[in-house]
Amino acid sequence: MQRFLSFSLCALLCCVLLASSAFATAPQDKKATLLVAFGTSKASAMPALNAIDAAYTKQGETVLWAYTSDIIRRKLAKEGKTVLSVNAALNKAAEMGITELRVQSLHVAPAEEYNQLERMIVKNLTQHPGRFTKVLLGYPLLVSAQDLQEVVDAVLAALPKARKADEAVVLMGHGNDRGPGDLILAATHTAFHAKDSRVWLATVEGALSFDHVLPQLKAAGVKKVWLQPFMIVAGDHANNDLAGPEEDSWASRIKAAGMEPVPHLKGLGELEGIQKVFLRHTSTTVDDMANSKKSD
Ligand code: CO
Repeated sequence: MQRFLSFSLCALLCCVLLASSAFATAPQDKKATLLVAFGTSKASAMPALNAIDAAYTKQGETVLWAYTSDIIRRKLAKEGKTVLSVNAALNKAAEMGITELRVQSLHVAPAEEYNQLERMIVKNLTQHPGRFTKVLLGYPLLVSAQDLQEVVDAVLAALPKARKADEAVVLMGHGNDRGPGDLILAATHTAFHAKDSRVWLATVEGALSFDHVLPQLKAAGVKKVWLQPFMIVAGDHANNDLAGPEEDSWASRIKAAGMEPVPHLKGLGELEGIQKVFLRHTSTTVDDMANSKKSD
Protein backbone atom coordinates (compact mmCIF):
# COMPACT_ATOMS: atom_id res chain seq x y z
CA MET A 1 0.00 0.00 0.00
CA GLN A 2 2.76 2.35 0.98
CA ARG A 3 4.60 1.40 -2.18
CA PHE A 4 1.51 2.15 -4.24
CA LEU A 5 1.10 5.52 -2.53
CA SER A 6 4.66 6.57 -3.17
CA PHE A 7 4.31 5.40 -6.76
CA SER A 8 1.19 7.48 -7.32
CA LEU A 9 2.77 10.46 -5.58
CA CYS A 10 5.70 10.15 -7.92
CA ALA A 11 3.36 9.88 -10.93
CA LEU A 12 1.47 12.91 -9.74
CA LEU A 13 4.70 14.88 -9.35
CA CYS A 14 5.77 13.83 -12.83
CA CYS A 15 2.43 14.99 -14.20
CA VAL A 16 2.79 18.35 -12.47
CA LEU A 17 6.35 18.74 -13.77
CA LEU A 18 5.31 17.75 -17.30
CA ALA A 19 2.36 20.09 -17.19
CA SER A 20 4.46 23.00 -15.97
CA SER A 21 7.16 22.43 -18.57
CA ALA A 22 4.48 22.17 -21.26
CA PHE A 23 3.19 25.53 -20.00
CA ALA A 24 6.65 27.05 -20.10
CA THR A 25 7.20 26.01 -23.71
CA ALA A 26 3.76 27.10 -24.86
CA PRO A 27 4.04 29.51 -27.79
CA GLN A 28 4.68 32.99 -26.46
CA ASP A 29 4.94 36.36 -28.08
CA LYS A 30 8.47 37.16 -29.14
CA LYS A 31 9.01 40.80 -28.30
CA ALA A 32 11.25 43.55 -29.63
CA THR A 33 11.45 47.34 -29.66
CA LEU A 34 11.99 49.33 -32.82
CA LEU A 35 13.55 52.74 -32.14
CA VAL A 36 12.82 55.28 -34.86
CA ALA A 37 14.81 58.50 -35.18
CA PHE A 38 14.88 61.14 -37.89
CA GLY A 39 18.44 59.97 -38.53
CA THR A 40 21.88 61.47 -38.71
CA SER A 41 25.04 61.11 -40.74
CA LYS A 42 27.15 63.06 -38.24
CA ALA A 43 29.49 61.26 -35.87
CA SER A 44 28.85 63.99 -33.26
CA ALA A 45 25.21 62.85 -33.09
CA MET A 46 25.96 59.23 -32.31
CA PRO A 47 26.61 59.51 -28.53
CA ALA A 48 22.94 60.52 -28.07
CA LEU A 49 21.56 57.64 -30.14
CA ASN A 50 23.99 55.18 -28.55
CA ALA A 51 22.94 56.33 -25.08
CA ILE A 52 19.27 55.75 -25.92
CA ASP A 53 20.14 52.34 -27.37
CA ALA A 54 22.01 51.44 -24.16
CA ALA A 55 19.06 52.54 -21.99
CA TYR A 56 16.81 50.06 -23.83
CA THR A 57 19.24 47.15 -24.14
CA LYS A 58 20.07 47.52 -20.43
CA GLN A 59 16.48 46.45 -19.79
CA GLY A 60 17.10 43.23 -21.73
CA GLU A 61 15.13 44.36 -24.76
CA THR A 62 15.82 43.27 -28.34
CA VAL A 63 16.35 46.58 -30.10
CA LEU A 64 16.03 47.39 -33.79
CA TRP A 65 16.64 50.80 -35.38
CA ALA A 66 15.16 52.74 -38.27
CA TYR A 67 15.61 56.29 -39.61
CA THR A 68 12.68 58.13 -41.15
CA SER A 69 14.87 60.37 -43.34
CA ASP A 70 15.41 58.92 -46.83
CA ILE A 71 18.12 61.50 -47.56
CA ILE A 72 20.15 60.50 -44.50
CA ARG A 73 19.80 56.77 -45.21
CA ARG A 74 20.91 57.28 -48.82
CA LYS A 75 23.90 59.35 -47.66
CA LEU A 76 24.88 56.65 -45.15
CA ALA A 77 24.47 53.92 -47.78
CA LYS A 78 27.04 55.72 -49.97
CA GLU A 79 29.44 55.50 -47.01
CA GLY A 80 28.71 51.77 -46.76
CA LYS A 81 26.51 52.09 -43.65
CA THR A 82 23.10 50.47 -43.73
CA VAL A 83 20.28 51.84 -41.62
CA LEU A 84 16.79 50.46 -42.22
CA SER A 85 13.73 52.43 -43.24
CA VAL A 86 10.63 51.93 -41.08
CA ASN A 87 9.17 49.60 -43.70
CA ALA A 88 12.37 47.52 -43.94
CA ALA A 89 12.66 47.36 -40.14
CA LEU A 90 9.08 46.07 -39.81
CA ASN A 91 9.84 43.43 -42.45
CA LYS A 92 13.02 42.45 -40.60
CA ALA A 93 11.17 42.15 -37.29
CA ALA A 94 8.65 39.83 -38.96
CA GLU A 95 11.50 37.74 -40.44
CA MET A 96 13.02 37.47 -36.96
CA GLY A 97 9.74 35.96 -35.75
CA ILE A 98 8.89 38.98 -33.60
CA THR A 99 5.15 38.96 -32.90
CA GLU A 100 4.81 41.80 -30.37
CA LEU A 101 6.61 44.89 -31.57
CA ARG A 102 6.89 48.15 -29.71
CA VAL A 103 7.79 51.06 -31.96
CA GLN A 104 9.23 54.08 -30.18
CA SER A 105 9.34 57.44 -31.91
CA LEU A 106 12.49 59.35 -30.96
CA HIS A 107 11.12 62.60 -32.33
CA VAL A 108 10.58 65.65 -30.11
CA ALA A 109 6.97 66.41 -31.02
CA PRO A 110 4.06 64.55 -32.61
CA ALA A 111 4.51 66.59 -35.79
CA GLU A 112 5.48 65.93 -39.39
CA GLU A 113 8.02 63.13 -38.86
CA TYR A 114 5.84 61.33 -36.33
CA ASN A 115 2.79 61.51 -38.61
CA GLN A 116 4.92 60.04 -41.37
CA LEU A 117 6.01 57.22 -39.07
CA GLU A 118 2.36 56.40 -38.29
CA ARG A 119 1.54 56.29 -41.98
CA MET A 120 4.52 54.03 -42.72
CA ILE A 121 3.40 51.56 -40.06
CA VAL A 122 -0.21 51.57 -41.28
CA LYS A 123 0.96 50.97 -44.85
CA ASN A 124 3.15 48.01 -43.86
CA LEU A 125 0.46 46.44 -41.66
CA THR A 126 -2.15 46.85 -44.40
CA GLN A 127 0.13 45.11 -46.88
CA HIS A 128 0.92 42.28 -44.44
CA PRO A 129 -2.09 41.80 -42.18
CA GLY A 130 -1.78 39.39 -39.26
CA ARG A 131 2.00 39.14 -39.14
CA PHE A 132 2.17 40.78 -35.69
CA THR A 133 -0.16 40.17 -32.75
CA LYS A 134 0.56 43.69 -31.49
CA VAL A 135 2.34 46.78 -32.80
CA LEU A 136 2.40 49.36 -30.02
CA LEU A 137 3.46 52.85 -31.01
CA GLY A 138 5.03 55.01 -28.29
CA TYR A 139 4.53 58.80 -28.38
CA PRO A 140 7.46 61.13 -29.08
CA LEU A 141 9.14 63.13 -26.31
CA LEU A 142 6.61 65.89 -25.64
CA VAL A 143 2.91 65.09 -25.60
CA SER A 144 1.76 65.65 -22.01
CA ALA A 145 2.16 68.08 -19.12
CA GLN A 146 4.13 65.37 -17.26
CA ASP A 147 6.51 65.04 -20.22
CA LEU A 148 7.04 68.79 -20.33
CA GLN A 149 7.84 68.94 -16.62
CA GLU A 150 10.24 66.00 -16.75
CA VAL A 151 11.99 67.27 -19.88
CA VAL A 152 12.44 70.81 -18.50
CA ASP A 153 13.77 69.42 -15.20
CA ALA A 154 16.15 67.01 -16.98
CA VAL A 155 17.62 69.77 -19.16
CA LEU A 156 17.97 72.29 -16.33
CA ALA A 157 19.60 69.70 -14.05
CA ALA A 158 22.13 68.86 -16.77
CA LEU A 159 23.23 72.43 -17.50
CA PRO A 160 27.02 72.82 -17.19
CA LYS A 161 28.05 73.41 -13.59
CA ALA A 162 30.23 76.32 -14.78
CA ARG A 163 27.17 78.30 -15.85
CA LYS A 164 26.48 81.09 -13.37
CA ALA A 165 22.90 82.18 -12.55
CA ASP A 166 23.18 85.51 -14.41
CA GLU A 167 24.45 83.83 -17.59
CA ALA A 168 21.88 83.04 -20.27
CA VAL A 169 21.13 79.67 -21.82
CA VAL A 170 19.72 79.54 -25.34
CA LEU A 171 18.33 76.23 -26.52
CA MET A 172 17.94 75.50 -30.23
CA GLY A 173 14.83 73.51 -31.06
CA HIS A 174 14.11 72.42 -34.60
CA GLY A 175 10.62 73.82 -35.18
CA ASN A 176 8.29 73.10 -38.04
CA ASP A 177 5.18 74.94 -39.14
CA ARG A 178 3.64 71.77 -40.58
CA GLY A 179 1.83 70.19 -37.65
CA PRO A 180 1.83 71.12 -33.94
CA GLY A 181 5.65 71.20 -33.54
CA ASP A 182 5.88 74.99 -33.17
CA LEU A 183 3.06 75.09 -30.66
CA ILE A 184 4.71 72.44 -28.47
CA LEU A 185 8.04 74.24 -28.59
CA ALA A 186 6.32 77.52 -27.66
CA ALA A 187 4.88 75.78 -24.57
CA THR A 188 8.33 74.34 -23.86
CA HIS A 189 9.92 77.81 -24.05
CA THR A 190 7.34 79.13 -21.59
CA ALA A 191 7.98 76.24 -19.19
CA PHE A 192 11.77 76.78 -19.26
CA HIS A 193 11.45 80.53 -18.90
CA ALA A 194 9.07 80.15 -15.93
CA LYS A 195 11.61 78.01 -14.05
CA ASP A 196 14.66 80.03 -15.02
CA SER A 197 14.11 83.45 -16.58
CA ARG A 198 17.57 83.34 -18.16
CA VAL A 199 16.76 80.29 -20.28
CA TRP A 200 15.32 80.85 -23.76
CA LEU A 201 14.27 78.42 -26.46
CA ALA A 202 14.18 79.39 -30.13
CA THR A 203 13.99 77.29 -33.29
CA VAL A 204 16.12 76.97 -36.39
CA GLU A 205 13.03 76.51 -38.55
CA GLY A 206 9.41 77.36 -37.83
CA ALA A 207 7.96 80.35 -36.02
CA LEU A 208 10.07 80.81 -32.87
CA SER A 209 13.02 82.35 -34.63
CA PHE A 210 16.19 83.50 -32.88
CA ASP A 211 15.40 87.03 -34.11
CA HIS A 212 12.95 87.31 -31.21
CA VAL A 213 15.46 86.15 -28.61
CA LEU A 214 18.53 88.21 -29.50
CA PRO A 215 16.96 91.58 -28.48
CA GLN A 216 15.76 89.99 -25.22
CA LEU A 217 19.29 88.86 -24.39
CA LYS A 218 20.56 92.39 -24.96
CA ALA A 219 17.70 93.93 -22.96
CA ALA A 220 18.46 91.57 -20.05
CA GLY A 221 22.09 92.77 -20.01
CA VAL A 222 23.42 89.26 -20.58
CA LYS A 223 27.19 88.93 -21.02
CA LYS A 224 27.63 85.20 -21.54
CA VAL A 225 25.30 82.85 -23.47
CA TRP A 226 25.45 79.08 -23.19
CA LEU A 227 24.23 77.43 -26.38
CA GLN A 228 22.68 73.97 -26.42
CA PRO A 229 20.64 71.99 -28.95
CA PHE A 230 17.09 71.13 -27.90
CA MET A 231 17.11 68.22 -30.30
CA ILE A 232 17.62 64.52 -29.68
CA VAL A 233 21.10 64.63 -31.25
CA ALA A 234 23.82 67.25 -31.63
CA GLY A 235 24.01 66.94 -35.41
CA ASP A 236 24.11 69.24 -38.38
CA HIS A 237 21.99 72.07 -36.93
CA ALA A 238 23.92 72.12 -33.64
CA ASN A 239 27.32 72.15 -35.33
CA ASN A 240 26.48 74.66 -38.07
CA ASP A 241 23.38 76.77 -37.40
CA LEU A 242 23.98 77.00 -33.66
CA ALA A 243 27.72 76.95 -33.07
CA GLY A 244 29.27 77.16 -36.57
CA PRO A 245 31.70 79.88 -37.71
CA GLU A 246 29.34 81.28 -40.40
CA GLU A 247 28.15 84.84 -39.93
CA ASP A 248 24.51 83.84 -39.50
CA SER A 249 25.03 81.13 -36.86
CA TRP A 250 23.55 81.95 -33.47
CA ALA A 251 27.03 81.93 -31.91
CA SER A 252 28.30 84.48 -34.47
CA ARG A 253 25.26 86.71 -34.02
CA ILE A 254 25.66 86.64 -30.23
CA LYS A 255 29.34 87.55 -30.59
CA ALA A 256 28.51 90.36 -33.04
CA ALA A 257 26.09 91.72 -30.44
CA GLY A 258 28.92 91.97 -27.90
CA MET A 259 28.14 88.86 -25.85
CA GLU A 260 30.22 85.73 -25.34
CA PRO A 261 28.76 82.51 -26.81
CA VAL A 262 29.68 79.22 -25.12
CA PRO A 263 28.54 76.19 -27.18
CA HIS A 264 27.72 73.07 -25.18
CA LEU A 265 26.78 70.55 -27.83
CA LYS A 266 25.08 67.65 -26.16
CA GLY A 267 22.01 65.98 -27.69
CA LEU A 268 18.94 65.52 -25.48
CA GLY A 269 19.26 61.75 -25.98
CA GLU A 270 22.39 61.79 -23.81
CA LEU A 271 20.40 62.85 -20.74
CA GLU A 272 19.11 60.09 -18.50
CA GLY A 273 15.98 62.11 -17.71
CA ILE A 274 15.11 62.23 -21.42
CA GLN A 275 15.75 58.49 -21.89
CA LYS A 276 13.36 57.89 -18.99
CA VAL A 277 10.54 59.76 -20.76
CA PHE A 278 11.03 57.63 -23.89
CA LEU A 279 11.16 54.41 -21.83
CA ARG A 280 7.93 55.42 -20.08
CA HIS A 281 6.22 56.14 -23.40
CA THR A 282 7.34 52.76 -24.73
CA SER A 283 6.08 50.81 -21.73
CA THR A 284 2.79 52.64 -21.19
CA THR A 285 1.48 52.99 -24.74
CA VAL A 286 -1.85 51.35 -25.56
CA ASP A 287 -1.82 52.59 -29.14
CA ASP A 288 -1.97 49.15 -30.82
CA MET A 289 -1.73 49.72 -34.55
CA ALA A 290 -2.20 46.03 -35.40
CA ASN A 291 -5.57 45.87 -33.61
CA SER A 292 -7.40 49.12 -34.16
CA LYS A 293 -10.61 49.19 -32.19
CA LYS A 294 -13.77 48.87 -34.18
CA SER A 295 -16.29 51.60 -33.47
CA ASP A 296 -19.76 50.55 -32.43
CO1 CO B 1 16.39 70.42 -40.15
